Amino acid sequence: MAFPVHRPRRLRKNENIRRLVRENHLTVDDLVYPLFIEEGTNIKKEIESMPGIYRYSIDRLDEELEQVLDLNIPAVLLFGIPSHKDEVGSDTWSDEGIIQKATRYIKEKYPQLYVITDVCFCEYTSHGHCGVLCHSDVDNDLTLENTKKQVISHAKAGADMVAPSGMMDGVVKAIREALDSEGFTDIPIMAYSAKYASSYYGPFRDAADSAPAFGDRRTYQMDPANRREALREIALDIEEGADIVMVKPALAYLDIISDAKTHFTVPVAAYNVSGEYSMIKAAGKLGWIDEKKVMMETLLSMKRAGADIIITYFTKEVAKELKNG
Ligand code: PBG
Ligand code: ZN
Repeated sequence: MAFPVHRPRRLRKNENIRRLVRENHLTVDDLVYPLFIEEGTNIKKEIESMPGIYRYSIDRLDEELEQVLDLNIPAVLLFGIPSHKDEVGSDTWSDEGIIQKATRYIKEKYPQLYVITDVCFCEYTSHGHCGVLCHSDVDNDLTLENTKKQVISHAKAGADMVAPSGMMDGVVKAIREALDSEGFTDIPIMAYSAKYASSYYGPFRDAADSAPAFGDRRTYQMDPANRREALREIALDIEEGADIVMVKPALAYLDIISDAKTHFTVPVAAYNVSGEYSMIKAAGKLGWIDEKKVMMETLLSMKRAGADIIITYFTKEVAKELKNG
């Protein structure tokens, strides 16, 4: 029997009962904070299209890391901006590369902070593509060889986890074998398994100076029209040894997050990307939306869809919001 016996509004009567029946919660434990680290000294430069997000040189990082620890944020995800780019992105596997230096610095000074490194090439190649070029397309298997060198050098620098974001086939297997062969059997892989060729990455490419010099990434990143293909990509990555799988972007791909959660048992990460951040910031600045409330509602939607981990530029703001209630 339905109405009048059933009245769902009974369970919305006041905040106490709403708290009791609330299905999903956003907590600081879910969050990963991305950091942009630039080669050089005395750099703290705000990214124009991402208000509140900065590029830091290593010598200015403390200010940011102390806030991260004060707010009890569990993890950071590192992106590097090198001083020198070349055809293959050799800074990515140099022991004196920007990520290697930053990782050593952070793990030495703040060992309690969990450091995840983004594993890709686009910030380091002169052409801005995510690997080695061959006839104007990225060569998959040559790129895997360089990826192995990259992850080993990240691991040696002290990375706690590696996160390959280039969407090369077989990358998880290549990384697992490389790490294991060097004794890094306990470093997990968070695979950007379902990463779409999205226009929501625009502000990031300014932030990391990583826009492709020609063409686009549609030969390696996924077609936004595809849903079932994401399950295939995720299944392959899990088979190859992914410990955590990621869906990226998040907001326009909540169906994919939900599918990933339903079909697999590994933790699911969602990347709330730069364009998603910038849109909320811009509308907030104009006074068109309540920025803080829209931020919380948006991130909660990712939890509701099934995300266990959310990578977001809002991390510090959310942590503050949760702290102050
Ligand atoms: C590079 C990479 C990108 C992002 C993370 N790693 C951009 C891209 O593929 O061009 C996007 C992050 C964001 O937009 O916040 N492989
Ligand atoms: Zn890339």
